[in-house]
Amino acid sequence: MENDLQAIVVQAEAIIAQVASQSDWEQAKASVLGPNGSLTQAAKGIGKLSKEERPSFGQALNQAKKKVESLFKTSLEAIENHADLESLGKKIDPTLPPSPGYLGGTHPLTHVRRKIVSIFRKIGFTVAEATEVETEWFCFDALNTPEDHPARDAQDTLFFPPHSEWANVKRKTQEAHVLRTHTSSVQIRTLLKEPPPLRIIAPGRCFRRDTVDATHSANFHQTEGLYVDKMVTIRDLKGVLDFFLKELFGNQLETRLRPSFFPFTEPSFEVDLRAPSLGKLSNKWIEIMGCGMVDPEVLKLVNLDPKEWNGFAFGLGIERIAMILHGIDDIRHFYQNDQRFLNQFSNAT
Ligand code: PHE
Repeated sequence: MENDLQAIVVQAEAIIAQVASQSDWEQAKASVLGPNGSLTQAAKGIGKLSKEERPSFGQALNQAKKKVESLFKTSLEAIENHADLESLGKKIDPTLPPSPGYLGGTHPLTHVRRKIVSIFRKIGFTVAEATEVETEWFCFDALNTPEDHPARDAQDTLFFPPHSEWANVKRKTQEAHVLRTHTSSVQIRTLLKEPPPLRIIAPGRCFRRDTVDATHSANFHQTEGLYVDKMVTIRDLKGVLDFFLKELFGNQLETRLRPSFFPFTEPSFEVDLRAPSLGKLSNKWIEIMGCGMVDPEVLKLVNLDPKEWNGFAFGLGIERIAMILHGIDDIRHFYQNDQRFLNQFSNAT
């Protein structure tokens, strides 16, 4: 008789292994533990046993029942867990509590922005901010950028509201708004607000009508810099930028200024750098940012006398710095929020 019980347990295990759904499970359970189930029927056999045999059979019966019940319980849990996952459709459920030990980290762009700010703070720069929706005047006119400059074309700049409605807007407000194409507008906003001497950096978001690819994004980040004082020279500009870039890329870094053009600086330069810390890139000159001496026309537009005041300005892309610093080959990684990417920078120093 006790061997029969063992056989029932073995059989129950085999049945449970086949179970795939809750209804399968209920049927399987009934076939063992239900009124006509194999174990229930076997239990009735106790009546045919002698008094002496009954206790040990009773014990074996209890054990078998416990074992079978626990097998069914585990099996039901597995079925329910599976059903939960299915109903979530493998999507992330944001209402679930976070997995234990999970610590968030700063986004690599935030991290690089903070690092840039902290370096300039050491040499007396403060942070200035302005709006992302700008008037055309602050974004272009005040920066000596003429009406026919390509940057002002609707192909390059996001007008706000869209260019198609622009004619009506112009009539109503006299001035079009744009999503700022660079942080240089903060130069003007600051100069109108604060009397020089001043040193500011202005990190922030910029927008251009760029087709997204590995190095372009319609939405990206820049840091502007502006230094206005008396008798400022290109050597001051080079000294400040060299200090900044060495703090970022290491002391063995070399820089060079290459003549360039920006409407609001004169003369204007591109800054190139070369640094042994940059691995594969270490033998190349890499273009890193634009800069120049503030154009006297800009100073006049904000009512400063260019004979008394002068200065320099520079602008750099935060994504570009982060890509060079960390060897990232595609700008789109920054915006996709893939944790496998982000986790690599959560503890970056
Ligand atoms: N605003 C320029 C750009 O977006 C960069 C720049 C800033 C150049 C300041 C010179 C001085 O490309």
